[in-house]
Amino acid sequence: MAVRNIIKMGDPALRKVSKPVKEFDQRLGELFDDLKETLDRAGGLGLAAVQVGVLKRAFIIILDGKAYEIANPQILSQKGSVIDNEGCLSVVGFRGMVKRAQKVEIKYFDREGKEQTLKAENYDARALLHEYDHLEGVLFCDKMTEKITDK
Ligand code: CO
Repeated sequence: MAVRNIIKMGDPALRKVSKPVKEFDQRLGELFDDLKETLDRAGGLGLAAVQVGVLKRAFIIILDGKAYEIANPQILSQKGSVIDNEGCLSVVGFRGMVKRAQKVEIKYFDREGKEQTLKAENYDARALLHEYDHLEGVLFCDKMTEKITDK
């Protein structure tokens, strides 16, 4: 395992659409291990592969203290809407108010290539949708209605 460098806004990779994971092999396992270690070190709720410069549809998300390894997620449903503040390990110096669904359900593949579903609400739903956006090259600041800089 290794801590990888987190790329920052301005790096063109963050604007690219990530490609589906095709091989559920040891390399994918290592990517997830490294994402986890990098996230543990940086502190945060989630980290997408693109944020360490790997354009694969994969991310780690911490929900209720548990790390989920998500590959090729698909959003099944979104309900409600909440405006709350969020930040990103790739965006330094400010947070922002962003409108997101209050509930979300996704399906995805785990590191073994087994299909799973996951439901999340409130801030967990926000974190999940934030990470999903990274796979599409979207950052929270694209969607924010208010910038928060006093922090
Ligand atoms: Co982010």
